[in-house]
Amino acid sequence: MKVVTNVQELPSACAFVPTMGALHAGHGSLFTLAKNYSEEVVASVFVNPLQFENKDDLEKYPRTPERDTELAEKYGVTHLWFPTYEEIYPAGFTQLTAGPISKLYEGASRPGHFDGVVTVVRRLFDLLSPKVAVFGEKDFQQLALIREIAQDVEIIAAPIIREADGLAMSSRNVRLSDAGRIAARVISKSLRDSSSEVELRRMLISEPEFTVDYADYIDEKTFLPPTESTQFTRAIVAGWINGVRLLDNMQVKSEAKR
Ligand code: PAF
Repeated sequence: MKVVTNVQELPSACAFVPTMGALHAGHGSLFTLAKNYSEEVVASVFVNPLQFENKDDLEKYPRTPERDTELAEKYGVTHLWFPTYEEIYPAGFTQLTAGPISKLYEGASRPGHFDGVVTVVRRLFDLLSPKVAVFGEKDFQQLALIREIAQDVEIIAAPIIREADGLAMSSRNVRLSDAGRIAARVISKSLRDSSSEVELRRMLISEPEFTVDYADYIDEKTFLPPTESTQFTRAIVAGWINGVRLLDNMQVKSEAKR
C-alpha cells in the first residue's frame, strides 16, 4: 500500500472511499466492497473542519493515523491518501450548498453540516476523478445528499456493520463510557424489535441514558413521512449518550401500507 499526500501520485478511475480516519471494521467493509469495482482502491483520511458546526466536536474527533494505516492495509486499500488542508481548500474554493433534504433531521440539529460534507466530497471527487465511490448506509441522509452531487461518479451504498451487541459501528463509539456503551444497545434493539414509529420512540425513551433527538419513519427517497406511494420506508434515529451523538437506521415495513 502506498501512503501519499499528493493527489498526483494517485490512480484515477479507481474505487474511492473517503473517510475522516479513526478507521474501524465498518470502514473495512467499505474497502472490501470497493475492491469489487477496481483493483485500485483509494481511501482518503481528512477530518473536514467545514462539516463540524461545533468546535469541541472537531477537536475531540479521534485522530489515529498509524492505526488507520494498518487497518487500511489489512483491508486491501492500495493507496491511502492524507490530503493537506491547502489541497482541499485552496484560496477562493467554491463552497456548495446541499439540497433541501439537508435541512431535515441531521441538518436541523447540525446547521451547515451537509454543506460542509458535499463541499469536501465534491472537491475530493474533482481532485481524484474516481470511477466509483463507496459510502456507508449508517449516514443515510449523507448518502442521499452525496448522490445528488455525484454527477459522473457512481455511488455505491454499503450496509451498516454492527458490533456483536448490535451497536452500529462508528468512530465516535470509543468516546462512550462502559455504562454508555451498554445503554447504547437500546438503539439497535428498538429499531429491530419495534413495529411502528410510536413503539420505536417508546422503546428508546425507556433508556434514561439516551437522549432522543429524532426517531422517525421516513420515505427513503423524500425523507418525508411515508405515504401510500412510498416504496421503501426507513426508521431513522439519532440522539446522545454521554454527550456523544449516535445515529442508526433500518429499513422497515411502511406504516402507510400496513
Ligand atoms: O462520512 C464521513 O466520514 C464524512 O462525512 C465524509 C464522507 C468522509 C466527508 O468528510
